[in-house]
Amino acid sequence: MELLALTPVFGFEVRGLDTATPLPEATMARLQAAWNRASLLVFRDQKLDEGALVAFSRHFGEPELPPASAARAAGDGGIARHPEIWIISNVVENGKPIGALGYGEAEWHTDMSYIDAPPTASLLYGLEVPPIGADTHFASQHAAYEGLPAELKAAVEGRRANHDSSYTSAGELRAGARPVEAVDQAPGARHPIVRTHPETGRKALFLGRRRNAWIEGLPVAESEALLDRLWAESSRADYTYVHKWRQGDLLIWDNRAVIHRRDAFDNAHRRLLLRTQLKGSRPF
Ligand code: SIN
Repeated sequence: MELLALTPVFGFEVRGLDTATPLPEATMARLQAAWNRASLLVFRDQKLDEGALVAFSRHFGEPELPPASAARAAGDGGIARHPEIWIISNVVENGKPIGALGYGEAEWHTDMSYIDAPPTASLLYGLEVPPIGADTHFASQHAAYEGLPAELKAAVEGRRANHDSSYTSAGELRAGARPVEAVDQAPGARHPIVRTHPETGRKALFLGRRRNAWIEGLPVAESEALLDRLWAESSRADYTYVHKWRQGDLLIWDNRAVIHRRDAFDNAHRRLLLRTQLKGSRPF
């Protein structure tokens, strides 16, 4: 197994590993250590079916059920036979989307941070990818926290933010949710803005997503101004890796340490990815 740095800040490409076969304990221990260090692992040219993706995911933790989405609410499970799998796709079959997030941009976010114990990790496997577009961007939130000006570090010390649960990262209202009229009343979960990684002890910014966020206890205008400054830091290009998808790519990222977003793409092309996410614990 070979590890190649993706950026000077975080991320490894892992070469020489077939994630569809059972992995010896020693290999898994190396992989786990690499993941804790890098927050993002990329495996190219993998051949996984749904069962193999779930089995590989289980090496890193227990699967969490996927988020609500329009496709799931409509009872359309697409091709996924495993309840742990969330289909991300723009494909429409018999008038119904087979997956979530469509073909537009998905804004910066952390997966499912609107629940009390957000997933530790997400795994994403590319079954069909368009020839251009739909790049997925990742930004290290360890780097973002460590690089904050002292005055911003002091401003967020001990503060919590609400992570709104109403909208997907593609801007769609979730099944059963109502439009948010006041950010300080939005549903969701409240988490520390600076969290400590339970495995490494390293601190990271934990912002979730910008839409409808609110810093608990602050007047809305003050919260908006501070959030804008924090988001400008958290999504800096020098903390970012941009993944250009090839069919067979498998990614695993640490939701406690990175945020991600996806570029829009041409809806004339099919895109079909399978995602799993792993149960987490309450951020501290
Ligand atoms: C996601 O936000 O989990 C999906 C990212 C992507 O579609 O590339």
